[in-house]
Amino acid sequence: DIPSLQDAFAGKFLLGSAFTNDELLTEPDKQLLIKHFNSVTPGNVLKWDSTEPQENVFNFIEADAAVAFGVQNGQQVRGHTLVWHAQTPDWVFRDANGNLVSKAVLYARMQNHIQTVMERYEGKIYAWDVVNEVIDASQSDGLRRSLWYQIAGEEYIEKAFEFAHAVDPTVKLFINDYNTHEPAKSQALYNLITRLQAKGIPVDGVGHQTHISLYYPSLAEIESSIIKFKALGLETHITELDISVYSDNSQSYETFSDELKQRQANLYKSLFQVFLRHTDTVTNVTLWGKDDAHTWLRTFPVARNNWPLLFDERLQSKPAYWSVLEAV
Ligand code: XIL
Repeated sequence: DIPSLQDAFAGKFLLGSAFTNDELLTEPDKQLLIKHFNSVTPGNVLKWDSTEPQENVFNFIEADAAVAFGVQNGQQVRGHTLVWHAQTPDWVFRDANGNLVSKAVLYARMQNHIQTVMERYEGKIYAWDVVNEVIDASQSDGLRRSLWYQIAGEEYIEKAFEFAHAVDPTVKLFINDYNTHEPAKSQALYNLITRLQAKGIPVDGVGHQTHISLYYPSLAEIESSIIKFKALGLETHITELDISVYSDNSQSYETFSDELKQRQANLYKSLFQVFLRHTDTVTNVTLWGKDDAHTWLRTFPVARNNWPLLFDERLQSKPAYWSVLEAV
């Protein structure tokens, strides 16, 4: 019987995993989630296209099952996500003629969505990714030109946090993004949060997705990006960690070689050592899945083998699992 990961990190930070609802249908998958993780993140079913596919027509069948799983097992549940440019239905942004709606209409829809979803899981979801992937460092104001932005500018981000805070001021409200180790992106995110804080917008935490690979980025870059946000007094969550074995989209391996296994194990260990140096702000480290059969990296960015997580396709512990334990 192998050691429990959540126990190994007890008193340091919560150890989390994303999961898909099909994992709730098989006992071995469920037991692995329950044993090793004290935080869980529904991977898709809390997204807008899942919970409100048509205006004011909410469907909580899948979301209810996902959240209930975590609650029943005494796990913290991270809510992912309220406002995003992807996996969001087009109706949110358009009128009956297909034209973009006014700010007022957009905000009414946003508020209705945030309020309805957050109220349903009040007391069950402890932290929400209020906005996801809003940064584009190539823009002068650092903000992605999503439909949200095209209609409302930066203000939509303020509204999202204000609406969420009004529903439940005790829930931790996060801003989540990828490639936050990149200096320009990290700076753009930092600048945004500084502007929000100056206006009194209630942001509690920064989420670093941390979809990385064996090749990129460096540990130093990751550590710098964690340290950078300490100045803002925010909590830090690592929200979507995985380590791809590829450096570019054209590669595809038949097998997971012993050499790759060892390199991945070494990197996981060093990475967790970084997180452990910053437990003053890092309070949750969540992997984007528990096992290599349930990883989005087998479909994104292309369909191919990949082995980014701590357990293999048969739910057996990988060298990466053992090396993470050694980091403590
Ligand atoms: C991914 C899911 O894991 C996939 O199942 C889905 O097809 C696409 O989205 N950043 C995020 C997550 O914030 O929501 C994404 O999840 C992975 C990248």
